[in-house]
Amino acid sequence: MILYGGGDHALGLWETIQLLELPFQGFFDDGPGPFALPESFHLGPYDPTVHPNVHLVIAITDNAIRRNLALRVRHPIASALVHPTAYVSPSAKLSPGVTVLPGAVIHSAVQIDVHTIINTGVVVEHFVRIGAFCHLSSRSVAGCRSEVGSGCLIATGAIVAPGAKVGEGCVVGAGSVVLHELPPFTKAWGIPAKPQASSFSSEE
Ligand SMILES: CC(C)(COP(=O)(O)OP(=O)(O)OC[C@H]1O[C@@H](n2cnc3c(N)ncnc32)[C@H](O)[C@@H]1OP(=O)(O)O)[C@@H](O)C(=O)NCCC(=O)NCCS
Repeated sequence: MILYGGGDHALGLWETIQLLELPFQGFFDDGPGPFALPESFHLGPYDPTVHPNVHLVIAITDNAIRRNLALRVRHPIASALVHPTAYVSPSAKLSPGVTVLPGAVIHSAVQIDVHTIINTGVVVEHFVRIGAFCHLSSRSVAGCRSEVGSGCLIATGAIVAPGAKVGEGCVVGAGSVVLHELPPFTKAWGIPAKPQASSFSSEE
């Protein structure tokens, strides 16, 4: 396994890899460091010729950067990487590149698309659909049969109520509650979450 990114998120994934006793070849990082992972594992900037057949996980929390890197990488993408303290229902479908951090719960018949991060202590209830390149931050909750479009940030402790729909590219603020529906590319917060004047366009 190779990680792309050597920061804080990568550290958690590296520990997951160790707990699962998976082989670890190192990490790519295009920046100069310092890194959260030991420097000795740094493979340098991304290079498709280094361990070209080893599976890779993109260990970057920023959704847009993760998406851009996914378009670039030539390594095969690893199956979902799940911390051993997380619960994933046998009927849940997690696509390649998904990462699930400690204590998360993913219930029955959930579908999560590629490269989405399910962070520490997140609860994803049954029949939820989550798009690609999302980040559900620590302790956030997606209630049963809710939907989260691709590229969304559901910030720390936010709740998407059962049956609610969050359009693609939305940002839901920390501790906020989406009760019904947010149109695509909306930034919203509060209880209930209200779109803010600073909502952004799809070009941003
Ligand atoms: C939603 C969020 C990204 C908005 O950021 P932003 O657009 O830069 O907004 P600002 O921080 O400039 O805040 C603008 C105003 O909205 C308020 N506000 C922002 N987020 C809020 C929230 N979640 N709940 C209530 N009020 C909020 C701020 O207090 C501020 O009010 P003021 O103008 O009266 O001072 C940010 O507030 C947030 O939730 N961050 C957490 C992200 C997170 O959990 N990341 C996880 C990484 S692991």
